[in-house]
Amino acid sequence: MKNVLLYCRPGFEKDCAGEITELASTHGFYGYVRMQPKQGFVVFVMEKADAGESLIDALSFSDLIFARQIIAVNDEISMGSGGRVEALLDAAKQLPLAQDLWIETADTNEGKGLAGLIKKLDKPLRQGWKKASLLRTKAVGIRHHLFLVSGELAYLGVSNAKCRSEFPLGIRRLRFPSNAPSRSTLKLEEAMHEFVPAKKWPVLLREGMTAVDLGAAPGGWTYQLVERGMRVTAIDNGPMGELLMATGLVDHQKADGFKFQPPRQVDWLVCDMVEKPQMVTELMAKWLSQGWTRRSIFNLKLPMKKRFQEVSTCLALLKNSLDKAGRQYEIQAKHLYHDREEITVCVICH
Ligand SMILES: C[S@@+](CC[C@H](N)C(=O)[O-])C[C@H]1O[C@@H](n2cnc3c(N)ncnc32)[C@H](O)[C@@H]1O
Repeated sequence: MKNVLLYCRPGFEKDCAGEITELASTHGFYGYVRMQPKQGFVVFVMEKADAGESLIDALSFSDLIFARQIIAVNDEISMGSGGRVEALLDAAKQLPLAQDLWIETADTNEGKGLAGLIKKLDKPLRQGWKKASLLRTKAVGIRHHLFLVSGELAYLGVSNAKCRSEFPLGIRRLRFPSNAPSRSTLKLEEAMHEFVPAKKWPVLLREGMTAVDLGAAPGGWTYQLVERGMRVTAIDNGPMGELLMATGLVDHQKADGFKFQPPRQVDWLVCDMVEKPQMVTELMAKWLSQGWTRRSIFNLKLPMKKRFQEVSTCLALLKNSLDKAGRQYEIQAKHLYHDREEITVCVICH
């Protein structure tokens, strides 16, 4: 397949496009992007017949900030309104064998409107795929994706377990904890799942750890830390949730997050202050460089335009400061599902 299709939050197509164009070129892949505003996906078009799979092979999913999912595809398939199953089966014969077939759409209202069609297609497609022997348990890590653009148009694609999201539509859905003080809590919970592998939770997110939460009120992020048994210093002029304060694990200080300095090193620094992204980045770089913490998760609130450039500038600034301070570190960044006009960054120093 010569192209890749990337799913993103509607409204972030330009950022997703800028990112894949730059990343692809660093691996020697060149092409152009096809996209429409607010359609929730972009297609990076290349020339060579297998460029899509090769590009995905060269990437790591954690390299992508704005993409929720990446699949290799050929051009759009016109399904007509009659023999949709036949048209799709015909096109599927060019795909490598797979373990599974997922039927998806963009995360848009148009996408949601296709739920009925998905229901209608699901059974006959699966039967057709089986009959044509397209699914094999031996095809480990390969998945077919039917990405419906409308009732008439679709992309058929392939993903590889080495570089993909394991969630339908690339969306990690989480249940809102009813006693959390704000919906923002889901951002930090998603970040913890995204950036800290489950097997490392007992070491990195454990009871008895200490944390500082800058811009904490009303306490959605503090809630996540307290849930894991951490003691949290919550910095904010605003009020914190009463239930959270009643745990006895939170020290609420009405101070300026840009001036607060911890009396001793803490295990985690989290920050959700609404401030210019470069100011927040500099603050995080200061904490990590001075050794006030070795781990941080923070949000960068993005400007309306040139968001990818702003993110690149901030990440370069952060790396530069940490290099100067002689830190060994790992940086991950993602536009999470629960993020809106912002991305979430995680830094872990070794
Ligand atoms: C998006 S809210 C944080 C929500 C919080 N993470 C939660 O989950 O409930 C941003 C907070 O940052 C605080 N804030 C903004 N600038 C600040 C500063 N310089 N120092 C401390 N807090 C600040 C605001 O008072 C506000 O409560």
